[in-house]
Amino acid sequence: MTDTADVGALPARGMPAADVLGEIRALRAADRPTHGGRLFAYVYDPGVAGLDELAQAAYAESAHVNGLDPTAFPSLLAMENALVGAAARLLGGGPGTGAPDVVGSVTSGGTESLLLAVKAARDARPDLTEPRIVAPASAHAAFAKAAHYLRVTLDTVPVDPVTLRPDPAAVAAAIRPETVLVVASAPSYAHGVVDPVTEIAAVAQAADVRCHVDACFGGWALPWLRRLGAPVPPFDFAVPGVTSISVDLHKYAYAPKGVSVLLHRDPALRAPQFFAYADWPGYTMVNPVIASTRSGGPIAAAYATLRHLGEDGYLRLAAATRDAVTGLADAVRATGGLRLMAEPETTVVCFTSDDPGLDLFVLVDELTARGWHTQPQLTYADLPASVHLTVTAAVAPRVAEFGPALAEAVAAARAAGPVVLPPELLALAGSLAPEALTPDLVAGLAGGLGLAGGAGVPDRMAVVNTLLDAAPARLRERLLAEFVGLLQRPAW
Ligand SMILES: Cc1ncc(COP(=O)(O)O)c(C=O)c1O
Repeated sequence: MTDTADVGALPARGMPAADVLGEIRALRAADRPTHGGRLFAYVYDPGVAGLDELAQAAYAESAHVNGLDPTAFPSLLAMENALVGAAARLLGGGPGTGAPDVVGSVTSGGTESLLLAVKAARDARPDLTEPRIVAPASAHAAFAKAAHYLRVTLDTVPVDPVTLRPDPAAVAAAIRPETVLVVASAPSYAHGVVDPVTEIAAVAQAADVRCHVDACFGGWALPWLRRLGAPVPPFDFAVPGVTSISVDLHKYAYAPKGVSVLLHRDPALRAPQFFAYADWPGYTMVNPVIASTRSGGPIAAAYATLRHLGEDGYLRLAAATRDAVTGLADAVRATGGLRLMAEPETTVVCFTSDDPGLDLFVLVDELTARGWHTQPQLTYADLPASVHLTVTAAVAPRVAEFGPALAEAVAAARAAGPVVLPPELLALAGSLAPEALTPDLVAGLAGGLGLAGGAGVPDRMAVVNTLLDAAPARLRERLLAEFVGLLQRPAW
């Protein structure tokens, strides 16, 4: 570190480039490993030599290009149209299909694509003062965010605790005259389960309501898995009634972060997604997506990634991912005390435990201590806490090491025993009103749990997860929002 490291981002005297990069690399050392197949969330790693360098060079080439005006930067328009075309073709649209007029937009990520799908559906019905959307409880939290931002009411339909899917009849029953959009996931993030899209789209169509398939996670994996022979149920534009689909290129297309595609079955469905404004003295602003100025970097990097990997590359990567999923699921099955939440049908392995002597949150910590970074999922409604593994192609060479590590971590978690919180703390977590949480209270709690200061999050999180698990959803939200607020303080 140089002597300017502790004075915020703007030193009094500019620093040499090499020192600046050295600082960033030093900061990055605290991060979870983005490559190497041992991080089962947040990152999507194909493990392809040279791909990062290509994507970075492409990113740099277009980093200063502005997507604000496609006429000023036709390079970006050409690459965006190419990405949308590729996504549409992969997902049942384009010439020669039953959905030849599919159009789309490139967004910054899954959340933006979903926000825009909800906006388009809402603004297509200006006659409604209180629009609503219907989504399975397993749908991504971004729909709740869209509902919140756009003042739309979210009606959730429970999922079956065994199949982890919603009942289409319950979806039909949840549709009201004010419903503007019905949602299905292909697959759900938490469990990797594909909803009954055909049936859900049919009930939406019968009610004359749009149906969005959230394939942010799986849209670039399921088509290849299907070509490899996996029994992937219909989920794309081949399904009548599906009006829009989102697919994130920064997930299984293995592009660097910042790229998703939102597709609509035809241009009329997309029209209300746009925002245009001419009633000011500056340029007429026409925005298909939420951001106005946006960098060409992520788009060029995604374009380069698709061109370089090609269909043959994605097929190879899907085969490696499928084999990794099989291997990880076998390891879970072979480990006493663990149970798969669902038979893996996509690229997720999710497991739970029915054994009171085996605390899943302690197990997650034990895996972390052994260099395997999994994602704990808290108890929700009648679904137990679970451990989520997003599996990517880079995991394949690691699979043989995972089984023994899992067995060891389970033995260590049993030996450590479950977390036992003081009963009064548990009772508080169960009963505290979210409004009663003050920043001071959260700061005190964070300090008591070893989460205070600039040291970041401790390696052992089982106590925190146990506390959060005992809290109702509203309180979890408040606790974590306050906590992130504590983290996000300026470095002066
Ligand atoms: C099914 C699904 N939808 C939406 C999202 C949100 O995507 P993003 O994090 O890119 O905003 C995710 C992210 O994991 C997802 O899995």
